[in-house]
Amino acid sequence: MSLPALYVSRLLPPAVMSVLTERFRLVAQPGPLPPEKQSLRKGLEEAEAAICTLTEQIDREALHAAPRLRVIANYAVGYNNIDLDAAKDRGIVVTNTPDVLTEATADMAWALLLATARRIPEGHGLVQQGAWTGWEPTQLLGADVYEKTLGIVGMGRIGNAVARRAAGFRMPIVYCNRTAPAPSDTAPSWRHLSLQKVLSESDFISLHVPLTPSTRHLIGAAELRLMRPTAFLINTSRGPAIDEAALVDALRERRLAGAGLDVYEQEPALHPGLRSLAQVVTLPHLGSATLSARVRMGMVCIENIRAVLEERPAPNRVN
Ligand code: DGY
Repeated sequence: MSLPALYVSRLLPPAVMSVLTERFRLVAQPGPLPPEKQSLRKGLEEAEAAICTLTEQIDREALHAAPRLRVIANYAVGYNNIDLDAAKDRGIVVTNTPDVLTEATADMAWALLLATARRIPEGHGLVQQGAWTGWEPTQLLGADVYEKTLGIVGMGRIGNAVARRAAGFRMPIVYCNRTAPAPSDTAPSWRHLSLQKVLSESDFISLHVPLTPSTRHLIGAAELRLMRPTAFLINTSRGPAIDEAALVDALRERRLAGAGLDVYEQEPALHPGLRSLAQVVTLPHLGSATLSARVRMGMVCIENIRAVLEERPAPNRVN
């Protein structure tokens, strides 16, 4: 029996690749870097199913040039890189990978929060560069985290996991969300407020929104002005949720204490202002980057593809 033709845009962890090569015929050998536009087109054109990542922009034109394609399993929880309407028009199912990366991403939001508040990269740099001359009473003084207010913008799965972790720090939680989540998804003491109130009442603000037209520059100059000068902004969701130029201005003018960023407006480019500010901690989009999360993301993609090819409902369909 011939194996279904699959296009995989990037090299995935070995445990995922070995299942893929056993169960599918790969129409192209994936590499570690994002594919050129032409090879992405060609791969989609030949395949019945595709696994793509957030670095591939899949537009109407690409979808129209893919006559056999039945399913795109996006190797991410976010799917702003795919034109969902165009996929729907062509009858192509699009799926994502929720749940399996929730805890890894929540851990990373906390890693950034603590690293930013307690100036961990600066301390690491000092020791590594041999510039540390010994304990000092006023060296690299940071901000307290314990009992400070944590603001969650977007109380979905990841926002919820970040908020749950705050219990050990005895942090009051304020949050905003497009729709109020079910009471079973929030603790009784968590307060649902407007975005403006969350921004003005929080010491730490962590963003967990999908990228849509309404969340692009959700945090712009006006919103940054609502934040406390002692507050920290953490983003592990999507870069364009923050207006980076406005963020750099706010940080330079000390209207904000710091920012911990895993995602950027124009990845992998960085706004030049974000490079030179000591109060900014930057990571290269590592939110879901644990081995087990990335393997499970691959398995979720496979499960969804198999469902579509076997004419069953895809468990994680997003269009
Ligand atoms: C996602 O899943 O959307 C992350 O940004 C990449 O893992």
